[in-house]
Amino acid sequence: MKKGFKRSDFPIFSTHPQLVYLDSGATAQKPQSVIDAEIKYYKELCAPVHRGIYALAERATEQFEQVRAQVAEFINAESVDEIVFVRGTTEAINTISYAFGLSQIQAGDEIVVTMLEHHANCVPWIECARKNGATLNWIPIDDQGALILDDLEKIITNKTKLVALTIASNVIGSTIPFERIIARAKEVGAYVLLDGAQYIAHQKVDVRALGCDFFVFSGHKMLGPTGIGVLYANKRTHSLLQPFQTGGSMISSVTTSGATWREMPALLEAGTPAIAQVIGLGAAVEYYKNEVDYAGLAEYEHALCKQLVEGLLLLKKVHIVGDPNRIMQTGHLVSFTVDDMHPHDISAYLAEKNICIRAGRHCAQPLHDRLGLDATARASLCGYNTSEDIEALLAGLRELVS
Ligand SMILES: Cc1ncc(COP(=O)(O)O)c(C=O)c1O
Repeated sequence: MKKGFKRSDFPIFSTHPQLVYLDSGATAQKPQSVIDAEIKYYKELCAPVHRGIYALAERATEQFEQVRAQVAEFINAESVDEIVFVRGTTEAINTISYAFGLSQIQAGDEIVVTMLEHHANCVPWIECARKNGATLNWIPIDDQGALILDDLEKIITNKTKLVALTIASNVIGSTIPFERIIARAKEVGAYVLLDGAQYIAHQKVDVRALGCDFFVFSGHKMLGPTGIGVLYANKRTHSLLQPFQTGGSMISSVTTSGATWREMPALLEAGTPAIAQVIGLGAAVEYYKNEVDYAGLAEYEHALCKQLVEGLLLLKKVHIVGDPNRIMQTGHLVSFTVDDMHPHDISAYLAEKNICIRAGRHCAQPLHDRLGLDATARASLCGYNTSEDIEALLAGLRELVS
């Protein structure tokens, strides 16, 4: 039976027994199995993939491609060709903005994002719209950071070519009504890109049920290594894609005057890939598959969130960003401010007590500007956090505000 995250699976907590790690939204801690998988590759299997015709290289290729199949199954892709390995969410979205955006989005077309986006999912579209003469439209938010969908039909129109949205914000800790937005995008025939960076560690992903064309995430936020991420591109997009980078591995033939490309996923995987990291990602996927019951994980994380929100609501000078009730019911992170205190000072104060939270704009400046906030403090949870972690944070904040 799946039991969920076991804290003892994560060696960082035995290396640092006092650590209160509440920054998993930035990067998650790694279970021993992920660390072992990377070490094993370097110790037993280190060789290039897709090139060597000797046993070691063939085994490395086999393991590498096995992870592609694991990832495809993990997110319920239709075929392994839909899985492209990239460095992370940022690289995935930039890749789409070049591979798809530059050729498919023309002057007069519209791209739609939301005011909740991380810079990784708005700056590439600001740039793409600027270069192509397209218009970028933003779905607005209210004062609590909830998306306003009243004018959705006017924002997503027949001119909309792409709707790119996060399905879990890295600042506002409550769920996003993405189903309605995707449905509207489908109605007008727009392509849909979902930024799943903050979603995949907490909820089961089924790209076919979501009905997206592109789904992107980073390995390091779901217990995997840094330097590896996934770009899922639905087969129907493949004939529309142009190479983003050119060079080794993605080439079919080259002459002195030109080159032809291989098909997906090689088309978007130029150069030697991050082999060890891909193998580490495979171990993270296995961890989720074997250990994690998603309903139990959500229940556990929401209970921790509730404990945190209830504690914060008792502190006079503290203000939660977003709707506390929705965060308690659905969240895995809480952003907040403290009167007359810069979030960096809050974070530095807590750091002295081994409590790690994030402070700043969290790469979401349009969102902070809209809410009239210079910066926020953010505590983000993962399945290995405990009620004691939450109590330690609350105790630190109580001390700070008194
Ligand atoms: C919602 C969201 N999108 C994109 C990113 C960028 O991810 P990465 O830095 O791993 O490329 C992040 C990282 O915090 C994020 O939270």
